[in-house]
Amino acid sequence: MHAESAVNSGRTARAVAVSVTVMASLGLIAGGVTWAVLSRLSPPELRPLDWWEHCVLYQIHVRSYKDSDGDGIGDLNGVAMRLDHLKDAGVKAVWLSPIFSSPQVDFGYDISDYLEIHYEYGTMADFDRLVAKAHSMGIKILLDFVPNHSSSEHQYFKDSVKRVGEYADYYVWADGFPDPSNASNRLPPSNWESLFGGSMWEWNNVRKQFYLHQFTTGQPEFNLRNPVVVKKLEGIMKFWLDQGVDGFRLDALPHLVEAPPDATGRYPDNPEVPVKAFTHFQTGTTMQLYTKDRIETYPVLYEWRDFLDQYNEEHGGDTRIFLSEGYANISMTMLYYGTESGRRGAHVPFNFDFITMITNTSAARDFAYVIDHWLTYMPFGMTANWVFGNHDNNRMASRFRDTMVDGLLALDMMLPGVAITYQGEEIGMRDGYVSWEDTVDVLACNRGTPDTYLEFSRDPPRTPFHWDDSPNAGFSSAPKTWLPVGLDYRELNLAKQKRDPISHFKVYQKLTTLRNEKTLSHGRLEVGGLSLNTLYLVRHLRGHDTLVLLFNVGKAPDTVRLERLPYLALPATVYTSSTHSMRREGYRIYSQELTLADGEMLVLRGPPVTCY
Ligand code: GLC
Ligand code: MG
Repeated sequence: MHAESAVNSGRTARAVAVSVTVMASLGLIAGGVTWAVLSRLSPPELRPLDWWEHCVLYQIHVRSYKDSDGDGIGDLNGVAMRLDHLKDAGVKAVWLSPIFSSPQVDFGYDISDYLEIHYEYGTMADFDRLVAKAHSMGIKILLDFVPNHSSSEHQYFKDSVKRVGEYADYYVWADGFPDPSNASNRLPPSNWESLFGGSMWEWNNVRKQFYLHQFTTGQPEFNLRNPVVVKKLEGIMKFWLDQGVDGFRLDALPHLVEAPPDATGRYPDNPEVPVKAFTHFQTGTTMQLYTKDRIETYPVLYEWRDFLDQYNEEHGGDTRIFLSEGYANISMTMLYYGTESGRRGAHVPFNFDFITMITNTSAARDFAYVIDHWLTYMPFGMTANWVFGNHDNNRMASRFRDTMVDGLLALDMMLPGVAITYQGEEIGMRDGYVSWEDTVDVLACNRGTPDTYLEFSRDPPRTPFHWDDSPNAGFSSAPKTWLPVGLDYRELNLAKQKRDPISHFKVYQKLTTLRNEKTLSHGRLEVGGLSLNTLYLVRHLRGHDTLVLLFNVGKAPDTVRLERLPYLALPATVYTSSTHSMRREGYRIYSQELTLADGEMLVLRGPPVTCY
């Protein structure tokens, strides 16, 4: 080849290279522009969610839901009769308070046979029918499972007392120590105080040892350091999974494992504190250092989760899940999700922060802080959940204010993750009045006096559901119900709220319907205080309507400026609002200045966010 032509061909090659680069760059720019334009318009591809990740989960307190046979006590057939209410409300899954055989010292949290239905609630056949009917309606059924303790009437305990075979080590037994002041007496091996009053150790005169009970003396603690017990409980769960249940709510997990004894059989005393209190974190005058939130607790849960995952894998079908109960600080609570190294715990570790950290004097920023608190600590890839009430705490409407009910319901439904409703919250039920004479909760009876029992009693949130304005609120045809029906049932009941054009129940339905929108299942969250008392929550997702909650958590009207709200363009349209709001559905908001009545909430719909 000549030198010249070599140069020429070099030039040609360069020219081709340059034009290819230019063309490619132009292509990239054009493509980028198209992508940018399209991506503004077209919604992103969304991860499909498993059934539970965005569900409305409802707690049925079986004893108080619906009595089908007129004995004054709710039962399984009652639940089956009223599944339509759940369907109507937009509920996707329920967990039933304990239904197994029990002497009912702690209303089913003292189980005497884990494989039988308690006679007051029905039979195994009733249970099978209930599960089948619920499933045919697309409703999941989860059971309350109590792995920390059984009833002292359970055969396991009776056999443990007599040291029969493997049962000898099913519970926590200790010799105690001689009493220097009384030769015929033994002293308990530590100062541990029961959550339900008195020592956590109870002497058994047959076995001649103390047994441990964190709750009543009728609830002996299982020895969960014994792998045989852990497996036995797993076997019980398998039995119910085979009956078709969709999962479990695991009770009282922070109490699973206690500190071990030293070589002499002495257990470490819990530290004394100067002020007496009975809270989830302190019992009497001691801190529960050696009896609660022990790190040894978590591997037990993780082992059960491995079993559940394996069951899911082997049996296919919809995922069966764990809900877990644990009142604990944020780090100990988050460990119920699992570990950084990939162990898994509960799918839904209950978030009690709206019960334990927020009151009716909290400001908007307190609400925002508590929401961020959970979301900040939640491990990556996990699902949030929000609890506003249950059978152990005063009802939401009573802890807060009647005017706040709709705002609280909207918060529950518009926050990301699982929305949890305690039976009756959907109609704004308040605590029932239960006199000292009618009081049956063991906690109130043990700790309370006629003057103080209401500080402890868990009966008020457990009074029967208000179905209608007929006698006993339509709950039962019995002359007397197990707990009295709330005095306000004639004005506050489901039938009336379904008839009334404006009611808590109608708001609830609007909110559960709204949850079908992708903005709520997949959208991003912004939350904060617009003022001292007005909370805002914005959910936004490219290509989908923006949804905004405004909620005045204060006791007085509050005027706010909407331009401070991120991502909301005016005019916005009211999707739903508090029952006492003057702004009804479809109302258009044009003005930046808005005055909200005390407790008023508005759910606003705005156009999709187009620019971030
Ligand atoms: C859980 C239950 C509560 C019960 C306790 C002991 O906290 O929710 O009702 O008394 O465990 O089982
Ligand atoms: Mg225990």
